[in-house]
Amino acid sequence: MHGFNKKIGVLGGGQLGKMLAIAAANWHQPIHFLDQSADYPAGPFASGFTEGDFNEYTPVYHFGKTMDVLTIEIEHVNTHALHQLKAEGVKVHPQPAALEIIKDKGVQKLFLEKHGFPTPAFQFFDDEFLLAAAISAGSIRFPFVQKLLTSGYDGRGVAVIQGVADTEKLLPGQCLIESFVPIYKELSVIVARNEYGQTAVFPPVEMEFNAEANLMERLICPADIGPNICRKAEKMAVELMEAFDICGLLAVEMFLDEQETLFVNEVAPRPHNSGHHTIESCFTSQFEQHLRAILNLPLGSTRLKSPSVMVNLLGEPDHEGVAKYLGLEKCLRMEGVYLHLYGKQKTKPYRKMGHATILDTDINAARRKADFISETIKIIA
Ligand SMILES: Nc1ncnc2c1ncn2[C@@H]1O[C@H](COP(=O)(O)OP(=O)(O)OP(=O)(O)O)[C@@H](O)[C@H]1O
Ligand SMILES: [Mg+2]
Repeated sequence: MHGFNKKIGVLGGGQLGKMLAIAAANWHQPIHFLDQSADYPAGPFASGFTEGDFNEYTPVYHFGKTMDVLTIEIEHVNTHALHQLKAEGVKVHPQPAALEIIKDKGVQKLFLEKHGFPTPAFQFFDDEFLLAAAISAGSIRFPFVQKLLTSGYDGRGVAVIQGVADTEKLLPGQCLIESFVPIYKELSVIVARNEYGQTAVFPPVEMEFNAEANLMERLICPADIGPNICRKAEKMAVELMEAFDICGLLAVEMFLDEQETLFVNEVAPRPHNSGHHTIESCFTSQFEQHLRAILNLPLGSTRLKSPSVMVNLLGEPDHEGVAKYLGLEKCLRMEGVYLHLYGKQKTKPYRKMGHATILDTDINAARRKADFISETIKIIA
C-alpha cells in the first residue's frame, strides 16, 4: 500500500516538524502536529494542531487514532501508545520497538554491541555516586565520556571527564561511561527506507562541534574522506537501518579516529540536523525523503547537486529572552546563502534558532562564507 492520500501525524512540532511540513506542502499533503505549546515552529505550516504532551499515553493515543501514518521528530515520546496504535492498524514509522531501543542510550549501546556494530566500549552506573566511588577506587581509566541514559539532547547529558579533578563535573543520574575516542572526524550518514525495503543513502557529511556546548555547529558535505571509508560508512548505515527494521530515516552519527577506524556513536530515527543542507544541496531533501519513506513511495535520488556547508545559528551564550537577530541582511548579500529561521520566540544560550546553508563549487569558499555568517549573525535577547 502506498499513496499520497494519507493523513500524516507528527509527534513534536519543532524545526524538524516545520521543515517536514514545508516539504509536505509541495504535494499538498496533509500533515498534523501534536505539541505541548500552540506557539511552535511548525505551527504556521500545519494542516492541523492538537495541544498535548507527546510523553503521555492519552494525548498520543487520541491524536494517533485520527491519523493514517504517525511519525516523530523527537525520540522521547510515549511508545506504549504507539504500540497500541500500531496494533489497531495505524502505520507507525519508525516502529515503536525500535524507538524504545533508541531513546535509551544504554539500550541502544547494547543493541549496537549485540549486532556487531563497532562502538566505543561502555559500562553502566546507577548513579553519579557509584561512578565517583569507582573513580576513587582507581578502577576507571581517564579520559572518559559520561552519558545520561535518557534525558540528554544537543550535548546536554554528555560530559567529558579528563581526570580526577573533573569528578565534580559528573552529571547526576543513571548513566553509562564510554572510552574517549581520539576523534579525527565526526561523520553522519542519513539513510532512508520504505515499506518495500528499498533504501537510499545520502552522501556522508562531516560535523564540526562547538567545544563549549558539545553540539554540532557546522557540517561539510561531502565529507573529506576517501572512497573506502565512505563506502564503509554508507554500508554500516544501511545495515543499521535494516537491523532496526524501520521505515523513514535513520541518521547515524559516527566517529573516525586517526587509525581510520569507524565507530557508531549514536543513531536518530528521524530527520536530523546533519541533513539540513540536503534541502538545497541534494536532488531530494531529507524531509521529502522521510515523507516518501513513510508513505511507501519510491525514494528520491540522494545525489549531491553542489558541495555545501551548513551552519547552525545558535543563541548567544549570555542571552536569554525574546530573540533579536543581528546581521541577517549582510549574509543575504552573498551568493549561494540560504537562510532558515525557526521562528522561536525566545532565545537561550546555544539554542538552535535557525541555520544557513551555503552552496559553492569550491568548498573552501563555502567555509569562508560560513565563517563570515557565524561572526556576523548574532541572536541576542
Ligand atoms: N566516546 C566519545 N569520545 C569522544 N567524544 C565523544 C564521545 N562520545 C561523545 N563525544 C562527543 O560529544 C558529542 C555529543 O555526544 P552524543 O552524540 O552522544 O550526545 P547527544 O547530546 O545525544 O548529541 P546530539 O543530541 O547533539 O546528537 C559527540 O558528538 C562528540 O563530539
Ligand atoms: Mg549526538
